[in-house]
Amino acid sequence: MRLTSEQQQLRDEVRRFAREEISPCVTLMEKDERFPYQLVKKMGDKGWLGIPIPTRWGGFGGDFISYIIAIHEISKASAAVGVILSVHSSVCTLPILHYGTKEQHESYLNRLASGSWLGAFALTEPQAGSDAAAIRTKAVRDGQDYVLNGTKLFITNAGAAQLYLTFAVTDPSEGAKGITAFLVESSFHGLSIGNKERKMGLHGSNTCELVYEDLKLDQTQRLGAEGQGFAIAKGSLDGGRIGIAAQALGIAQAALELIMQRFGGKVRLRSAAAQQNQRELTELTAIAEAAKLLVYRAAYMRQEGIRCTKESSMAKLYASDAAVRIAGAAVKMLGMEGCLETAGAERLFRDAKVTQIYEGTNEIHRIVISGQLLRS
Ligand code: CAA
Repeated sequence: MRLTSEQQQLRDEVRRFAREEISPCVTLMEKDERFPYQLVKKMGDKGWLGIPIPTRWGGFGGDFISYIIAIHEISKASAAVGVILSVHSSVCTLPILHYGTKEQHESYLNRLASGSWLGAFALTEPQAGSDAAAIRTKAVRDGQDYVLNGTKLFITNAGAAQLYLTFAVTDPSEGAKGITAFLVESSFHGLSIGNKERKMGLHGSNTCELVYEDLKLDQTQRLGAEGQGFAIAKGSLDGGRIGIAAQALGIAQAALELIMQRFGGKVRLRSAAAQQNQRELTELTAIAEAAKLLVYRAAYMRQEGIRCTKESSMAKLYASDAAVRIAGAAVKMLGMEGCLETAGAERLFRDAKVTQIYEGTNEIHRIVISGQLLRS
């Protein structure tokens, strides 16, 4: 696939920013697990928190592939910053663009696209992870208002975000079709943010519980129609999973780069160990290239408005497995050095794992892919 000159220009600029601005912050994020507010602000100033948002809403006016390029390049330096951008854009800002009213566009898109606000996606609950339609957070009608009660778990960007795209049950008798989406601002009375989880990887990104307690919402805060929430969640996740796949691809390529730095120029064909390393390097490179093709094919389809449920699941499944495999190989091939914090490989290995788990576990993606295959 050939990138347009605009896409190439953005790629080069993001790559430079990742190297010069993000990479130097990684050690601090690893150590203090502190959310990188300053980096997010700088990215917002460059327009990158609104890449696929039209300029009339304060966005960058780029296409979906440009947005995926940004996550891919950023994640080579920091997968934590990559997921902050991915969740903010794919599953908060874009659903508002696609399903929001004119008033919701006016209230929220400018703030989210400029980065003055950060977005989050609140679907998962203690008893509803993979089985997302089993959520229990309730939104009960009270005249013109809704009253929300419930708990959300493992919410990326929580605490740092000002807007939470929240899914709640409005009609329990309708199952998935009784779920509705709402726009909940962090300042709304009744929303509280739980403790930040300590994770094995992605140390700069926030993951927290959210509690909604008698939170009153005007009906203008509903996104889409009553009962449309699950379709909004799943449709948005089709795009979101391409973002996570791009994040995984960035991790995989960063790990491959570490292996190349270690072994480049040291090829000795006669040594059995060198031959083994060459075989492994060849295989890992092919895996990373295949992941890249799947990621950019899915991004192309999304950009063209072609339904890509199967392709985005395939990209996410394959690229996340590739990230774990290649980062694991980097730790192994760098030997003891690979286990040291200073080498970077162990961080990539820790960061890679969750890409197989969030935005649908890879087991769920196997179900989604086979469901799509058997349906056609
Ligand atoms: N686009 C639009 N609408 C869709 C859709 C899609 N891709 N997929 C489903 N729908 C709608 C349809 O209206 C569908 O009804 P029909 O069957 O009549 O068409 C309805 O939703 C129900 O769909 P399903 O039958 O697929 O629903 P299900 O309950 O069987 O889904 C599941 C099962 C696939 C496992 C689903 O629960 C799922 O995707 N689970 C994973 C949850 C997940 O990805 N969570 C991510 C959390 S966010 C996160 O991780 C962010 C982060 O931190 C990085």
